[in-house]
Amino acid sequence: MAARRAPTSGGPTVFTSQEARLAVEGGSPVRTGPWPTYDKGDVFISTEDEAAVTEAVRSRLYFRYDHRPYPDTCTGRFERRLSRYFGTAHALACSSGTTAIALGLLACGLEPGSPVACPAFTFAATPSAILLAGHRPVLVECDADLHLDLDDLKRVLSEGVKAVVVVHMRGFASDMPAICDLADEWGVPVIEDAVPALGARIGDRHLGTFGRFGAFSTQSDKSLNTGEGGFLLTDDEEAHARAVVYSGAYENRMNRHFEGEPPAVDDLAYPIFSFRMDEIRAALADALLDRLPRRLALHQRNYGHVAERLDGVDGIALRRPVASGAYLGEALVFRLEGATPEQCAWFARALCAEGVDARALGDRGDKNVRSFWNWRFLLGPDADAARAALPQTTRYVGEAIDIPLSANLGLDDCDDLVTAVRKVLSALA
Ligand SMILES: Cc1ncc(COP(=O)(O)O)c(C=O)c1O
Repeated sequence: MAARRAPTSGGPTVFTSQEARLAVEGGSPVRTGPWPTYDKGDVFISTEDEAAVTEAVRSRLYFRYDHRPYPDTCTGRFERRLSRYFGTAHALACSSGTTAIALGLLACGLEPGSPVACPAFTFAATPSAILLAGHRPVLVECDADLHLDLDDLKRVLSEGVKAVVVVHMRGFASDMPAICDLADEWGVPVIEDAVPALGARIGDRHLGTFGRFGAFSTQSDKSLNTGEGGFLLTDDEEAHARAVVYSGAYENRMNRHFEGEPPAVDDLAYPIFSFRMDEIRAALADALLDRLPRRLALHQRNYGHVAERLDGVDGIALRRPVASGAYLGEALVFRLEGATPEQCAWFARALCAEGVDARALGDRGDKNVRSFWNWRFLLGPDADAARAALPQTTRYVGEAIDIPLSANLGLDDCDDLVTAVRKVLSALA
């Protein structure tokens, strides 16, 4: 038997003893259908998108730098539309979010091996991109809402970091006005890893347009889904030209990216890394842009629906946005305040058994690459020592539960999520 629907406000849900029995302990689950996620084929795609890809395949022109003028290529069109959509002077389509971050850092022209700050709560791709660009990641603590901790950022700036990579992790905006002010004080560039937040804003300004560069991914679970891919935004013409060359624009192909006179950047002075986007992906991404506003509205609706019903529920702390609505809504992250990592791992397992995919971000038995202590490539094999060096982030990541929120969820699915969370919480209590 399905458990009773969640109430519409923050009051307690009353479960009968049969309903209260957790699925993980042999009771009936709240739902039996699969929770939609990208790796189960959950996509936001239309017949127009499919037609755009077919047309690109039939064109037999798959390389972005072919005989056609720039505006006639899918990649060129996509870049121009990105610039208009985000209101930036330049956009560069590339092969992934990781390469977009690395291209932004490369184009900043820092000394090789420079210390570069990034939050300790992020996907392993962020420090990896810093390494890819030839620099040294310096991890910064996160606060109780899992945002970059401004006091710890001040500390690493005073210790000489040469750039800051900010991450809008799980779609929640970092405090960009405050971070940019701090970085300006120290004269260091900011690169936004806006990979998890494509389309989210602070007020009316898009994330990815606050820093010197904004880096995005079009990998499968992002707001634009081309399987793999990414793009980089900037208003800095010369830095854009360098990023274009690094991405693989050789023999004057960089010039095609500029409508007027290109900047005086010698394309033979830089290595080329073949981080280009291809025409087939660009055709799909360009078509998907038409439906991006619809997708974003659904994310906001679903997140708002769930957050309103879980806000104030005893035992959980929903992430607070830095400004009203400053999130994408593609993931629900909350902390089980005071719970141990083992309790959180149990909680996530219990939610999964109820039919809602969930993960305890700090589960010690999970090789989750959003837990910094698992970044052995950076911090070595001693996870305890890594955690001891960043106690604040260890605590808050250790209490965090993460649930993906597809744009394809209906409000009934959202109600199932609320019911499942309340059911498992009442058992935990
Ligand atoms: C915060 C963050 N940065 C960077 C990346 C890397 O993006 P990509 O897989 O396109 O390289 C991801 C991937 O999900 C991410 O979550």
